Amino acid sequence: MKKFNILLTKDQIQKKVRELGARISSDYGDEKIVLVCNLKGAFIFLADLCRYVTAPISIDFIATTSYKGTKTTGYVRIIKDLKMDVRGKNLLIVEDIIDTGLTVDYIINYLKLHKPKSIKVCTLLDKRCMRKVDVGIDYIGFEVGDQFLIGYGLDYNERYREMDSIAELIVERDTGDKQ
Ligand code: IMP
Ligand code: MG
Repeated sequence: MKKFNILLTKDQIQKKVRELGARISSDYGDEKIVLVCNLKGAFIFLADLCRYVTAPISIDFIATTSYKGTKTTGYVRIIKDLKMDVRGKNLLIVEDIIDTGLTVDYIINYLKLHKPKSIKVCTLLDKRCMRKVDVGIDYIGFEVGDQFLIGYGLDYNERYREMDSIAELIVERDTGDKQ
């Protein structure tokens, strides 16, 4: 059986995304930015965030995978590459959640190969207590604990991405009748 515990409401999320957009806007001013969205989890965050950034932006997508159910395999793979040529550009990686840090560390090292002007990281959620790689994060929405979260882009086996709040997923033992 699965239960949800709402952790962040739609209003709390929207307020935070507006704040992050304002900070990014004031830090970059008129400098152009490429928002590099890590699919799939960050797609809803990106869609909201980009509308609060006043600096001139373009958007590109990269896709990585490392999770199976609620566990990381510890092995990151790029399954969709950037389309744009990002040489000499200011890149802002947009992530839904940083957990062990392996994914974002991998993406940063990969993007460095393209010789951008700068690379920064913006994540809505930070599971700092789970970090295995020390990555510098420039913009953080909320620090969260070691819970498995769903909603606002985050999935559990591809479900629940469409929720407008973020919830903790509690997977309980099935106590139903069994033969
Ligand atoms: P990391 O490589 O361990 O930092 O994991 C980062 C990626 O794992 C994120 O981009 C998410 O896609 C996924 N992930 C980590 N924690 C959660 C969670 O609580 N819910 C859903 N996805 C998660
Ligand atoms: Mg992700």
